[in-house]
Amino acid sequence: MSEKITIQLMINNETQHLTIDPRVTLLDALREHLQLTGTKKGCDQGQCGACTVHVNGQRVLSCLTLAAQAQGGKVTTIEGLADKQGKLHPVQSCFMANDAFQCGYCTPGQIMSAVACIKEGHAGSDAEIREYMSGNLCRCGAYPHIVEAVKQAAAEMSGDAS
Ligand code: FES
Ligand code: FES
Repeated sequence: MSEKITIQLMINNETQHLTIDPRVTLLDALREHLQLTGTKKGCDQGQCGACTVHVNGQRVLSCLTLAAQAQGGKVTTIEGLADKQGKLHPVQSCFMANDAFQCGYCTPGQIMSAVACIKEGHAGSDAEIREYMSGNLCRCGAYPHIVEAVKQAAAEMSGDAS
């Protein structure tokens, strides 16, 4: 049994202190310790993308990231994407407008990946979107609608630094 450690994270703009086993993943810290269950556990081994969150603005697979590795960092999850007034992020709105999901299990990860993909400048064409979103699997096969949603959101966000 490892000795517990205390870490500090800024999660969705709120400072959180967690006392955890050092082996706890960021995914389990979010879901089990902070009840932020919007981030999904699919494979738990880096193969499906369902657990994608942002750490310091970069997309990461939270099942492959120890919470301790994010110490002092800024974490954004699907719960933190809408603004303070509850207005959805353009990627969220575009997923809804394009019916870019069926069961919805992969959707939080798809959306977090899509936000990063657009910011990275990798949403210039359908092929590019497919390539840079390829780490996010959808068992329902909603890919054509996901690509449309990402394309529309990228157009809406062009020139917008948010
Ligand atoms: S749950 Fe992390 S990649 Fe599948
Ligand atoms: S919408 Fe069901 S897995 Fe993607």
